[in-house]
Amino acid sequence: MKVLVTGGAGFVGSHVVDRLLDDGHAITIVDDLSTGRRELVNPRAALEVCDIRDPRLGAVMRAAGPEAVVHVAAQAAVSRSVEDPLFDASVNLLGTISVACAAQQVGVRRVVYISTGGAAYGDTDVVPTPEDHPTRATSPYGVSKVAAERYLECWSGLSGVPVMTLRLANVYGPRQNPRGEAGVVAIFAHRLVHGEPCVVNGDGEQTRDYVYVADVADAVARALGRVEVVGVVNVGTGRETTVNDLYRRLAGIARTTVPAQHAPARPGEQRRSALDATRARTLLGWTPATALDGGLARTFADFRDHRGFVNHSATARPGDSTNRDPVHQSTGGRSTGSPDRAFASGGARETAMIDEELRAILVCPACKGDLLFEETRIICPACRKAYPIRDGIPVMLINEAEPWTPPPHRP
Ligand SMILES: NC(=O)c1ccc[n+]([C@@H]2O[C@H](COP(=O)([O-])OP(=O)(O)OC[C@H]3O[C@@H](n4cnc5c(N)ncnc54)[C@H](O)[C@@H]3O)[C@@H](O)[C@H]2O)c1
Repeated sequence: MKVLVTGGAGFVGSHVVDRLLDDGHAITIVDDLSTGRRELVNPRAALEVCDIRDPRLGAVMRAAGPEAVVHVAAQAAVSRSVEDPLFDASVNLLGTISVACAAQQVGVRRVVYISTGGAAYGDTDVVPTPEDHPTRATSPYGVSKVAAERYLECWSGLSGVPVMTLRLANVYGPRQNPRGEAGVVAIFAHRLVHGEPCVVNGDGEQTRDYVYVADVADAVARALGRVEVVGVVNVGTGRETTVNDLYRRLAGIARTTVPAQHAPARPGEQRRSALDATRARTLLGWTPATALDGGLARTFADFRDHRGFVNHSATARPGDSTNRDPVHQSTGGRSTGSPDRAFASGGARETAMIDEELRAILVCPACKGDLLFEETRIICPACRKAYPIRDGIPVMLINEAEPWTPPPHRP
């Protein structure tokens, strides 16, 4: 299918593009490169550098002739929305209307809109928060994203084009900008790689729902294929993780014992946030496949190896759809199609993808015991189980394990 992805040169959008290309779609990206980067653009996609508010968008859309649009582009910084709400609304609201109008002109059959969970719901009574909870956005950014949802809902009714809105939790993973205001995983990973102190605002007990970017791309791919499903769907893990816990995990991966520094709490910062993704499971068959520790290890490795500036031409191999997420600790998750930049250099893939960080954090899911790593399997000597390694991915699922017998002792 021909798919137009707005914002495909950004953090989330570039992973969405990679996944959709791997699924066999033909992709045109519309991005003004305001926060996106050309080097994040997959060379198998066509890039049109264009502002979504530009009157040229109609011509760009006609030339691309998409059957579906995934609208990712946005002014995504809460602080900028507070400083300049007009600009925020112009991109997030008027820009979305502009995308919808241009899409209608070329007769698209599906629109997937990327919205936000945490900023839309605000502080809620119910955590994890379901989709039918009232939205209590406390920033212009949250309001503009929810307003754009409402516009698209109205437009869908008028145009007959089915729209699905995905409200994302806190997305993390390779390629996130470590110099942004949010993206605490990217900020910590970047600072740990450079040996700089990490700063936690307030007591660090505020919680967020961290969802791995390739899992988000998987949700988008599913939303694209299930045209009969419309409305709002949360994309998150449902798990709350404190910033303190996040730092502990990342510091462990980085092998540092230096504690985080604490700074005053940010005024008005949300205390708790997690999304109930039951609808995503029921309607899209989506579950987050990447365990937090595995996702953090990959993110850290990516920042260490690429210093946060991943160059597609240097790391991705055109036509390579074999790279997969390395850790599947949850049950029933399918592998997602994010290229594995940190380990994509070929050679002994089975072992190369399981690097030191991952080895250090993997434990047997049955007994939490230490593991032995072989070429094609991972062994728990305590449980006498062997977990397979497929396409370089350790499949740490109890029901996938085979019985393992220790080799006979030779005197
Ligand atoms: N990162 C998260 O944790 C998170 C959480 C919830 C929702 N979201 C949503 O995901 C989407 C992507 O966010 P991100 O974190 O990847 O941010 P990002 O800044 O990396 O990506 C945004 C992309 O949109 C492009 N863009 C911005 N304004 C544009 C315009 N006027 N015309 C054309 N292109 C434009 C940017 O150049 C960039 O490539 C946004 O819609 C955001 O609201 C992100």
